[in-house]
Amino acid sequence: MIAIGCDHGGFEIKEKIRIYLENNHIIFKDFGTNGTASVDYPEFAKKVSESVSSGESKFGILICGTGIGVSIAANKIKGIRAALCHNVHYAQMAKKHNDANILCLGGREITDKEAIDIVNAFLNTKFESGRHEKRISQISELEKM
Ligand code: RB5
Repeated sequence: MIAIGCDHGGFEIKEKIRIYLENNHIIFKDFGTNGTASVDYPEFAKKVSESVSSGESKFGILICGTGIGVSIAANKIKGIRAALCHNVHYAQMAKKHNDANILCLGGREITDKEAIDIVNAFLNTKFESGRHEKRISQISELEKM
């Protein structure tokens, strides 16, 4: 399952991502927000991150205006490797090298098509493992500090 969430700055793109996931028969859980009224992004970052951290969801997608706020917030949660991706290449590298488990997007920074292309790349790229494994373990060690 994929957990998705956003604030008001990411709402419109979240709706496009919902359609993409539905059309591709990908099961998802939408943690909101569900409109353009102003809300606080840490609340939605927490819900999506906890779904991924607990194992309920395999991956998460978070969108705010720039993607910065949700990425900072999500990375506070144990086990989360949230990557703010501006293009397809970033999304591919975030999976290949960083084993990212949450994709963050800037709803006010990219087009609908760019967003869908980035989501598609994120969901269809695999972690390369190998030499990157120990670095991911080192990131986990940082959580103990
Ligand atoms: C909301 O106006 C905006 O600050 C938020 O969506 C996000 O860009 C924060 O990082």
